[in-house]
Amino acid sequence: MGSSMTHPRVTKAIFPVGGLGTRFLPATKAIPKEMLPVLDKPLIQYAVEEALASGIEEIIFVTGKGKTAIEDHFDRAFELETLLARSNPKALAALKKLQLPPGSVAYVRQQEPLGLGHAIWCARHLVRDEPFAVLLADDFILSERPPLAQLLEQHAQFGGHWATVMSVPPSDTSRYGILDIASQDGAIIKVKGLVEKPLPEKAPSTTAIVGRYILSPTIFPHLEAKISSTPTGEIQITDAIAASFATDPFYGLVFEGDRFDCGTLPGMFEATVAAARLRADLAGSLFTQDGMSVRNSFTR
Ligand code: UTP
Repeated sequence: MGSSMTHPRVTKAIFPVGGLGTRFLPATKAIPKEMLPVLDKPLIQYAVEEALASGIEEIIFVTGKGKTAIEDHFDRAFELETLLARSNPKALAALKKLQLPPGSVAYVRQQEPLGLGHAIWCARHLVRDEPFAVLLADDFILSERPPLAQLLEQHAQFGGHWATVMSVPPSDTSRYGILDIASQDGAIIKVKGLVEKPLPEKAPSTTAIVGRYILSPTIFPHLEAKISSTPTGEIQITDAIAASFATDPFYGLVFEGDRFDCGTLPGMFEATVAAARLRADLAGSLFTQDGMSVRNSFTR
């Protein structure tokens, strides 16, 4: 399968944050969905920390209307810092961790929310001719090893397009991009087709793409073609990936970790409980019906 030559290191990551977050209204009326917190940290910060921990050096946010809170979150806050320097050095240290090196962050505006594929295409001039990562902050993943690092390790060996994938209940296929599987070798799935949000009876499998991609820049002409041939409706990244199958292999990686759909209320609620179980300062405040303290379930 694939070649064993080393492929170019991935140093750029796109964070599409231009969506409307309508499934989380009214919370997302004035606050970007990606700024909703799991415990005391916004979703977007978890995703950025995952990218940095995986070796990413350049952060590209594709933002939209009403998303300026994200820019402020990753910026300096001089008044607050001056105040905390006097009153709360611990909180100041937490704030300082948020500062990304100057010049490592770029923002590009998606003027209209025309879909994930369109958002990625909006970053084409910043990505240019390198393979790049895409992280969807509302796909929140708890794992021992960052899921992006798991993907990057495979990409370095095999090249091509990659996405993290997981098994979903048959009734949920209409919420995901679903794989048509050519073959599977352990956690690596070679994909021969993709269907965006199929009804259960039309789904080629129950293996779904979730929230992390590594894409080759060869995707951009395919996105361009979709954009010029789609006068209305959303531009899906899955359609562009499917259109590139003739030249670019596409692999799914069954990643290690627990994923929560934090674009929905049940997903956010479960993520909050799961994250609390991992926190020494909070685990004691979670109890089962028997009065037993709830313990972490994902670490083995
Ligand atoms: P979603 O499918 O979750 O859409 O997008 P959404 O608009 O954010 O939320 P709902 O469906 O209205 O509740 C998946 C990811 O793609 C980004 C979103 O920000 C999210 O991270 N996205 C989506 C864009 O950046 N631009 C778009 O036009 C659409």
